[in-house]
Amino acid sequence: MNITTRQTVEFRKMYPSDLDRVILIEREIFLFPWSLGNFVDSIKTDYICRVLEQGNILLGYGIMMMSPEEANVLTLGIAADWQKKGWGKQLLQHFIHLAKEQHVKSIFLDVRESNHGAAHLYKQMGFQQIATRKGYYPAMCGRENALVMQLML
Ligand SMILES: CC(C)(COP(=O)(O)OP(=O)(O)OC[C@H]1O[C@@H](n2cnc3c(N)ncnc32)[C@H](O)[C@@H]1OP(=O)(O)O)[C@@H](O)C(=O)NCCC(=O)NCCS
Repeated sequence: MNITTRQTVEFRKMYPSDLDRVILIEREIFLFPWSLGNFVDSIKTDYICRVLEQGNILLGYGIMMMSPEEANVLTLGIAADWQKKGWGKQLLQHFIHLAKEQHVKSIFLDVRESNHGAAHLYKQMGFQQIATRKGYYPAMCGRENALVMQLML
C-alpha cells in the first residue's frame, strides 16, 4: 500500500534551539544578514519571534516588535527553496493577526528600495509607502534607501 502523509505547517514561537537553522536561512537569503546575537537579543527582549515549520523543516521566520500603539515587523524570511509558494504571505498574515489581537493602530516595516518582491507582497497586503529613509541600508556599492511602509489596522 502506498500511503502519503501531508504534514501540516505550524506557526510557533522561535526558541534559542531554532537559531542554528534560522541563521542558515538568514545567511542564504540576505546579503547583509542579521547576526546570531541579533536573534538571541530579539528572543530575550520578548519580541514576537515566530517560525514556520513543517515536520522538522524550518520554512521561514519573522520577528515583530510590539508597542501599545504600533507594531514593527523587523524581519521576515522564507528559505530559498520555499519562496514564491505563498508562505511569506501567510507568515505576514499571521503577524497582522497577532497585531490586531493587541489592538495596535498600525504596523510599520522597512524594505530595501531594490527588494521589489518583498515590496510587492507588502503592497498586496495593504501596506502603503509613507516615507523613504535615505541611505538606510548598507549595500554592495555604498548605501541603499529604505521604503518605510505602514498598514493601518
Ligand atoms: C520576501 C519573502 C518573505 C516573500 O515570501 P514568499 O513566500 O517568497 O512570497 P509569497 O509566495 O507569499 O508571495 C507573495 C506575493 O509576493 C510575490 N513575490 C514574492 N517574492 C517575489 C519576488 N522575488 N519577485 C516578485 N514577486 C514576488 C509573489 O508573486 C506573490 O504575489 P502574487 O500573489 O501576486 O503572485 C521571501 O521571498 C524572502 O524571504 N525573500 C528574501 C528575504 C527578504 O527579502 N525578506 C524581506 C525583507 S523586508
